[in-house]
Amino acid sequence: TALALAVPAVTLTAGTALAACDDGEIVVKFAHVTNTDRHPKGIAASLLQDRVNEEMNGAMCVEVFPNSTLYNDDQVLEAMLQGDVQLAAPSLSKFEAFTKVFQVFDLPFVFQDIDAVDRFQLSDDGQAMLDSMQRRGLQGLGFWHNGMKQMSANVALEMPGDASGLKFRVQPSDVIVAQMEAIGVSPQPMAFSEVYGALQTGVVDGQENTWSNIYGQKFFEVQDGVTETNHGIIDYLVVTSVDWLDSLDADVRDQFMTILAEVTETRNAEATAVNEAAKQSIIDAGGVVRQLTPEAREAWVEAMKPVWAQFADSIGQENIDAAVSYNN
Ligand code: LMR
Repeated sequence: TALALAVPAVTLTAGTALAACDDGEIVVKFAHVTNTDRHPKGIAASLLQDRVNEEMNGAMCVEVFPNSTLYNDDQVLEAMLQGDVQLAAPSLSKFEAFTKVFQVFDLPFVFQDIDAVDRFQLSDDGQAMLDSMQRRGLQGLGFWHNGMKQMSANVALEMPGDASGLKFRVQPSDVIVAQMEAIGVSPQPMAFSEVYGALQTGVVDGQENTWSNIYGQKFFEVQDGVTETNHGIIDYLVVTSVDWLDSLDADVRDQFMTILAEVTETRNAEATAVNEAAKQSIIDAGGVVRQLTPEAREAWVEAMKPVWAQFADSIGQENIDAAVSYNN
């Protein structure tokens, strides 16, 4: 039995880049779904791991599990409530089963750029959202940025009508489902780790994502091209369980939260540059990137914006207006 027990442990250590945690340290498992390099979330998670493991050595130890190696986003929040994982940073589109307050971030064409998202999140309204799931046992610790979403498909997308009749993978969000239906697309919810295979085999025709995800997952290799629509955003909630946070001694919690806040500010300031670099890498690798003419962009806005009215009651018109007000 001793041998049989030892085998899975060895396999796990070899397969993932685990930080070596010492006996007596509080182990913080951080599960996420993206690549680690050249990705806003991957870089931020690694920086958090490095800083905690150096500055809190002996007290706390972060182990990052990237690339859906521990959980995908459909499983991670339940696993967190079970105490099997302590940190995650799912996109704001992945919380609908727990709260509707993040729906406003999924509406198309609300934010002109990630700086506007940043200003909204740092407002009192934005910060209050961190506490929106406390009764469900989850605590938001901060927002991490990714970037603006682009559309890709196995056909050239210039006008919204070009997507009509196609199947697109979507994150599990009612707002995104409605946005796709508004352009005649059949939305197919699917875990992030399955998207490349689904695009490659034709299970779906297209998808929407940021440059860093389209590059990191190599989606552009199995698509006709990527159209720079900038029609929405992907941003993350760094989340933990209320129980776990409460279990920490105050001084340990404060030091951890200070490091997290510093990592958040440092890496959020770089998120747009990381996505721009990923876009350039796609072009350098021979991927097709299409720009919209002003007229075409207007057509995409016209086609998608009716979704705002569809969700005005559930999101609250005042919350939509507040979000829009953070644009320049
Ligand atoms: C997706 O599921 O497409 C993204 O939310 C993945 C991620 O974490 O960026």
